[in-house]
Amino acid sequence: MRIGILGGTGPAGRGLAVRLAAAGDEVVIGSRDADRAASVAADLVGTWPDRALAITGVSNEDCAAADLVVMATPWDGAVATVKPLADDLAGKVVVSMANALVKEGREFLALMPPRGSVAATLQAVLPRSLVSASFHHLPASEMEKLSTPLVADVLVCSDHPGASEATVALVDRIEGLRGIDAGSLSQAAAIEAFTAVLITVNIRHKVHAAVQLSGFPEA
Ligand SMILES: NC(=O)c1ccc[n+]([C@@H]2O[C@H](COP(=O)([O-])OP(=O)(O)OC[C@H]3O[C@@H](n4cnc5c(N)ncnc54)[C@H](OP(=O)(O)O)[C@@H]3O)[C@@H](O)[C@H]2O)c1
Repeated sequence: MRIGILGGTGPAGRGLAVRLAAAGDEVVIGSRDADRAASVAADLVGTWPDRALAITGVSNEDCAAADLVVMATPWDGAVATVKPLADDLAGKVVVSMANALVKEGREFLALMPPRGSVAATLQAVLPRSLVSASFHHLPASEMEKLSTPLVADVLVCSDHPGASEATVALVDRIEGLRGIDAGSLSQAAAIEAFTAVLITVNIRHKVHAAVQLSGFPEA
């Protein structure tokens, strides 16, 4: 599958790109500046020469042509990024990983975007796309280090069962991650807001804690 990551030049997009490429997917990093995307992609491929990662860098416009598209810009740039791409994104699964947060001292606090979450806002702007929300709680710094094993549960929600299924399958492709269907897109508000708690815990305890749910049967 060809996976596009809008705003993929940042830490979150880069981390997701290397993990998906390591799982065998073809990843296209998007940027407002195609040259920057190409340079970031070349750096990532060059950092892990033994892995032969299939990562390329293009403009956000070209990135939107991928089969499945992840939205990885800051939350306040998300709507302006996807709006002009609505035709290219129609009929596709669009995974929102953006969190609306603000830093206050050594804490992160959750903001309330229109419609309660970034993901719900994107679904309203992209009515012909199948928006899901996922990947919010993963620490980008750890994601980008392929040598570091990941162990985490990744919550997924969407109003489209097919999009939830596709997103859980995408998460499951990454070694050490388990995708968990957490319900409708209404759950994105709580999922996104919890990121503020998790980052604050990580700052206070100087760790890279991730989410793991107990009580599921062993895989
Ligand atoms: N960092 C994490 O650990 C982490 C983990 C999970 C989820 N997230 C979420 O993932 C998203 C990206 O996180 P990040 O840390 O990678 O963010 P970031 O570095 O601030 O931004 C990612 C990329 O988005 C583009 N961008 C920046 N401002 C923009 C704007 N106003 N409009 C359109 N594009 C813009 C930039 O790429 P170009 O300049 O190349 O276009 C930038 O490299 C955030 O919403 C964050 O909440 C982050």
